[in-house]
Amino acid sequence: MTYGPNAGSLVRPPADHHEEAHTPVFVGERREQLDVILSRYPTKMAALLPALWMVQDARGWVSEGAMEEVAAVLDLTPAYVKGVTSFYTMYHQHPVGKHFIQVCTTTPCNVCGAEDVVQAFLDATGCGELGLTSPDGRFTVIEVECLGACGFATPVMINDEFIESVTPELARRIVTERD
Ligand code: FES
Repeated sequence: MTYGPNAGSLVRPPADHHEEAHTPVFVGERREQLDVILSRYPTKMAALLPALWMVQDARGWVSEGAMEEVAAVLDLTPAYVKGVTSFYTMYHQHPVGKHFIQVCTTTPCNVCGAEDVVQAFLDATGCGELGLTSPDGRFTVIEVECLGACGFATPVMINDEFIESVTPELARRIVTERD
């Protein structure tokens, strides 16, 4: 997974995307879950990453409105929350496909054909370009840096699932088998 400044820009918003009014995430059961998490940390700020993860788990991405809610709940500024959110590719700042596909294209995988795997995913999903979501909303494909499985090129992550030794043929099969 790629970490670093600007990493969040790998995903691009749909051309017709307009952010809807934010409805609170931390209500009812989710608020109780957050309170349990908060009880494990010395400060509210320390719970920022799991709080953002809860938002993404609930909504599929972290909107500006959600960042403001997290800031309010954790007594932080919205700018601070946005800074942290935008630092990690694991947090989506735009809607992404149901199946979020990350392909390692760092040099060891690249020389083993990772670019062909990327192209197979782009073609089979209909995404067309890296970072865009397919017209049916099912897939988003991005390139990432070393996934730590250099001996099993090409490794791919689809949401939380890790798949090694992906070839273009396997990539096409993976796409057809997803709902
Ligand atoms: S370079 Fe691809 S997993 Fe390490």
